[in-house]
Amino acid sequence: MRRSLVVGNWKMNGTLASAELLAKGIIAGLASSDADIAVCVPYIYLPSVSKIVKDTALALGSQNVADKSSGAYTGEISATMLKEFNCQYALVGHSERRSYYGDTNESVAARFCQAQEQNITPVLCVGETLEQREQDQTFQVINEQLDAVIDLAGIAAFKTAVIAYEPVWAIGTGKTASDEQAQEVHHYIRQYIAAKDQSIADKIQILYGGSAKPDNAKGLFAMPDIDGGLIGGASLDAESFLKIFQSI
Ligand code: 13P
Repeated sequence: MRRSLVVGNWKMNGTLASAELLAKGIIAGLASSDADIAVCVPYIYLPSVSKIVKDTALALGSQNVADKSSGAYTGEISATMLKEFNCQYALVGHSERRSYYGDTNESVAARFCQAQEQNITPVLCVGETLEQREQDQTFQVINEQLDAVIDLAGIAAFKTAVIAYEPVWAIGTGKTASDEQAQEVHHYIRQYIAAKDQSIADKIQILYGGSAKPDNAKGLFAMPDIDGGLIGGASLDAESFLKIFQSI
């Protein structure tokens, strides 16, 4: 049985005060659960949110990590720095990073490895654009996104990683993938990993992201290959994020 996981991605939202309030609100509403929960907060709020989540069930993550370990890389944040603030997870390859900031399959693979070197679990985000889906390129795009990481890190690295399937057309659009559409791709991803290592495929958590909300989470999470969610907008409100978590 795989453990479920729900991760909030706050993106570039809020203030220090609202970030602290949100973290406290989530913790206050957390009942004991068999599932895991985390929030990926803006880098600059990690020190304060790290103090708030200490000794609670709420884990901390970052929204990216540098592709190098240290040095003259102005504006980047290394995995070692994230570890100092108890980051357990780091998103890598989020579609907003890929499309707005030029993160390539190769740099995403390097970021994945940097996170793992510090025992931070990378959450590898993959997914197709609407155009790619309409041209029947979904699986090919996902193969390429996965292969870049498998080539650099090796399949064994997926023992301590999470995959998030986030169809770009569903992110922030209110157009969630149907339960069946999401399940189809999650199943595909698991089979793709299974062809290389069955036991890793059986164990790896594959999260769904893209307009997941309290009213559609239950259906998505009931799908056999969906092990939880990566939640954007709905994670900015403690109550709705908790409702999604309770839908597991
Ligand atoms: P939304 O839930 O706002 O669609 O965002 C999904 C996402 O990008 C999470 O990383």
